[in-house]
Amino acid sequence: MTRVLGIVQDKGGVGKSVICRGLAEVVQGAPVIEIDSSPRLLELGKRVTFFRTRADREAIELSGGAASRAEFDQVIDAIASATLPTVIDVGANTGVSLLTVIAGLREDFAAAGIEFGVLVVTTAEPGALAEVPKLLSVAAPWAAARFVIENRVQGEVDPKLLLKITSGATVSCLLNQVMDEKAAAILQAGGLASIAKLDAKALHTKFGIAQGSRIRRDLTRVRLEVMHAVRPAAEWLIAK
Ligand SMILES: Nc1ncnc2c1ncn2[C@@H]1O[C@H](COP(=O)(O)OP(=O)(O)O)[C@@H](O)[C@H]1O
Ligand SMILES: [Mg+2]
Repeated sequence: MTRVLGIVQDKGGVGKSVICRGLAEVVQGAPVIEIDSSPRLLELGKRVTFFRTRADREAIELSGGAASRAEFDQVIDAIASATLPTVIDVGANTGVSLLTVIAGLREDFAAAGIEFGVLVVTTAEPGALAEVPKLLSVAAPWAAARFVIENRVQGEVDPKLLLKITSGATVSCLLNQVMDEKAAAILQAGGLASIAKLDAKALHTKFGIAQGSRIRRDLTRVRLEVMHAVRPAAEWLIAK
């Protein structure tokens, strides 16, 4: 069986792409499927297969009929033809509808040798939290492979609430990453993949020893913390 993990949250800006990059770091060479309005995982180059979503989800729902039903055909075919553990960065406003389609096809996927899993990302933002039980419920067919990452970028989620809305899933946490402004710019430009390739000497020359070392320490820590947060999902992905 080939394992494929969908990273979902219908709210934008919660850290789905950060988490996807973390999985790409941990599961070396894993192909990535990106579904978004425009390609963003540029630093991953040929590892990424990009599928454009139409920006306006509501218009798609309203249009109904064949067009909306066929919307994910190419994505589904890409998943079905996976031969290596694969990660999907499912863009905003797409998670529930895509998971619903995939859930309907689970026997066909099983026949094609594909085992599906779901990783829900949430912040403390009420709109994002409200999506968690919905997504986990659509993901019920993959009960053994449901993961949640609490991204504390906007503060901590009340632990009791988190426990309640994530019942049955494997939960891990990503702390808010505070870093030097220049470190943030490097991260923005090159993603997590650029961090392991940083050249200490070049940073010292460009920013001086003090700031250069701080930038490198900050970025190294961010990379490790993201890799740590994705660990349960990564272990599932690569398990036989
Ligand atoms: N734990 C965190 N600490 C600091 N910044 C974060 C954290 N999680 C996400 N971010 C930042 O928030 C922004 C949105 O994250 P992104 O992964 O693009 O969200 P999504 O893919 O869900 O829209 C990015 O600039 C990202 O670097
Ligand atoms: Mg994204």
